[in-house]
Amino acid sequence: MNLQMLLLRGSSTAHVSWHFLKNFFLLPYYAVRDRAFLYQQMRAFVANVINLEKEYQTRVERVNWMGLQKLVNGHDPSLRFRFGARYGNVSFAESLVLAYLVESLQPRRVFEIGTFDGFSTYHLAMNGSTDAEVYTLNLPVEEDGPNAQLARGVDIEYFGDNKTHLELKRRGVGSIYRASPAAGKVRQLFGDSMTFDFSPYCGKIDLVFIDGGHSLECVTKDTESALSMLSDRGVIAWHDFNVQHRDVYRFLREFAKTRKTYWVAGTRLALSGPGLASC
Ligand SMILES: C[S@@+](CC[C@H](N)C(=O)[O-])C[C@H]1O[C@@H](n2cnc3c(N)ncnc32)[C@H](O)[C@@H]1O
Repeated sequence: MNLQMLLLRGSSTAHVSWHFLKNFFLLPYYAVRDRAFLYQQMRAFVANVINLEKEYQTRVERVNWMGLQKLVNGHDPSLRFRFGARYGNVSFAESLVLAYLVESLQPRRVFEIGTFDGFSTYHLAMNGSTDAEVYTLNLPVEEDGPNAQLARGVDIEYFGDNKTHLELKRRGVGSIYRASPAAGKVRQLFGDSMTFDFSPYCGKIDLVFIDGGHSLECVTKDTESALSMLSDRGVIAWHDFNVQHRDVYRFLREFAKTRKTYWVAGTRLALSGPGLASC
């Protein structure tokens, strides 16, 4: 390495170190200026550290957007999407991936487990062909108290699922897709995916999106149901592939031992199925 390069490296390291230290000492000032923003940044930092393992694991193959384009034999996208992902919804980036999957794969029938307020359903329904059908299943919302099916477990996954489910009383099942031009393509189903009869859909579904219960028993059962419904060009997409969703994370790392599985980088979406090309 020549002297000029050494000097450049040295000055750039000094520049970065100076800004690190300056911001570190200014933390109390930033906290006074905008505490909520600072907490949000710190949470993001902690989440990134927690998820470092996911970045380095090799079982579920990481694909970026270009990789995704190859996987679904997609072209440059022309997507319908909406802003405003809230607590409990897929993120903005994830809604784009779902929209792109539908636009590229052109599924004749889509099956979603976990409608919630219909934000993800909107993206599944708005980007397909006009004659595509979208089925979406959710637990019914009861008038009072937690849903009996969700309350059957006591661990952290049930706690989170119950919190999301209770939020539904305020928002209304599928309220977002119902108010969209794609409402006519969606068939709302109510039931518990642990006991629901999936047999009428056997071999007929080109895209299954799993985002219902997050306990191991739910994600295992939902995946079995998805596999039974999948057509020969079908794809399964799972939400919440991250270390924070302990059971989904563990399940997918096991699943990937026997079936090629991809994780779309920058999202919590994992994909598998015969409808994916390899990349
Ligand atoms: C995280 S939310 C889905 C979010 C939605 N995909 C979105 O992005 O807008 C999970 C939903 O699954 C539902 N759910 C949880 N367990 C279920 C089960 N066993 N069967 C059917 N639905 C379930 C909950 O009521 C909740 O509405």
